[in-house]
Amino acid sequence: MSVENTKTLAIIGQGYVGLPLAMAAVDAGWTVIGIDNFKAKVSQINSGSSPVEDVSTEQLQAALSSGAYKATVDFSEVAQAAVITICVPTPLNEKREPDLELLRNATNGIAPFISNETLVVSESTSYPGTLRDVIIPIINEFKPQESKNLFFACAPERVNPGDSFWNQKNTPRLVGAIDATSKSKAQEFYESICDVVVLVSTPEVAEAAKLLENTFRLVNIALVNEFTQLCFENGINVHDVIEAAGTKPYGFMPFRPGVGVGGHCIPVDPLYLTWWARQSGGSAAFVESADSINQSMPRYVADRALSMIDANENNPKVLILGVAYKPGVGDVRETPVSELRNALISYGADVAWHDPLVSNWEGTNSVGLDWDCDVAILATNQPGINVTQLTERGIQVLDCTNSVKNLAGVTLL
Ligand SMILES: NC(=O)c1ccc[n+]([C@@H]2O[C@H](COP(=O)([O-])OP(=O)(O)OC[C@H]3O[C@@H](n4cnc5c(N)ncnc54)[C@H](O)[C@@H]3O)[C@@H](O)[C@H]2O)c1
Repeated sequence: MSVENTKTLAIIGQGYVGLPLAMAAVDAGWTVIGIDNFKAKVSQINSGSSPVEDVSTEQLQAALSSGAYKATVDFSEVAQAAVITICVPTPLNEKREPDLELLRNATNGIAPFISNETLVVSESTSYPGTLRDVIIPIINEFKPQESKNLFFACAPERVNPGDSFWNQKNTPRLVGAIDATSKSKAQEFYESICDVVVLVSTPEVAEAAKLLENTFRLVNIALVNEFTQLCFENGINVHDVIEAAGTKPYGFMPFRPGVGVGGHCIPVDPLYLTWWARQSGGSAAFVESADSINQSMPRYVADRALSMIDANENNPKVLILGVAYKPGVGDVRETPVSELRNALISYGADVAWHDPLVSNWEGTNSVGLDWDCDVAILATNQPGINVTQLTERGIQVLDCTNSVKNLAGVTLL
């Protein structure tokens, strides 16, 4: 059965990855069943309200009303699908090691209902071997007896939430499959929704490539975060240095310092790599070191901000601007601003925060820019934050985002 014959796709997980994929597939002519085990989210989606910034409510409503898309909690609906993609979270556990429980649950959920000749693709980020050693054995154990021929591939998602240029269609898609038929089915499927499909030799190459991509970002951010501290100690403006180095036309890529790394990917995926290295008796010491430098940044930023105000102030009032892990989204997962807030509180500061895209976070509400404070920290450059409202009142601002240029009262990290 060609995947083009039925053109029914089931996507497990309707979050930042699964819902945009659903919309891209609807645009490409697929009938999409979006499966999620979070009932409230399924109801929200089916009511036409999009839970993610990259899918507009208009786009979602059009897909729902055309009949080409619906969300459901019913895993048995995968029986209708020619292709199933798994897009569930792959977080860290409390030991900061891979936690595949949600991936295993999702796989267990679909396994008894998969029809013969179905292509199952993992898009979730994980360590090399996850498709072959975790997903396939679960499916083989629980699949219906008549489902003799199943096909498997790995196609790690590269979506960058909030990015108005790169999307599901124009971002090249890596595909690694377990055999030739799986490869051609996966190629056919992804070519129906993506401009460029890059076939790699095995699923493990695709899985490892995804970890390399995100680890590359982690270590370069750590490098510039460490470099920033060295420059500051020596009275050199690190941003001037980055701009100077950036004039080299080859072999250099500028990264900027910040409060740390956040979100579902950059702080998490490299730890899948370090764990994977340890499983074979090796180590990824360089990555571990980068992780610890980034982990130290929130306290460094707290120290820098508090050094900007009167040392005799016992309970300084600090306003944090932007708490989401990056601009343009309301996503606070793994945001380094959480540790920044903890560090400030540990120093006895009275801390409030303002974020136009986040109303409630860690049990507290966003305050207005008129909140009375001694110093402010621009942690995430959210659209809608106007720091002049603070500087005009004589409040010093530490800009950790390199986005406020030449404004009196603003100091760059
Ligand atoms: N968000 C990103 O920027 C991004 C980018 C590339 C890759 N990824 C990877 O994609 C995967 C998904 O990430 P996300 O950001 O979309 O997560 P998300 O939290 O936004 O969405 C995941 C959805 O899966 C649902 N879910 C959890 N367990 C489930 C289960 N057992 N059965 C059915 N549904 C279940 C959740 O309710 C949620 O709606 C992760 O592996 C992540 O690392 C994420």
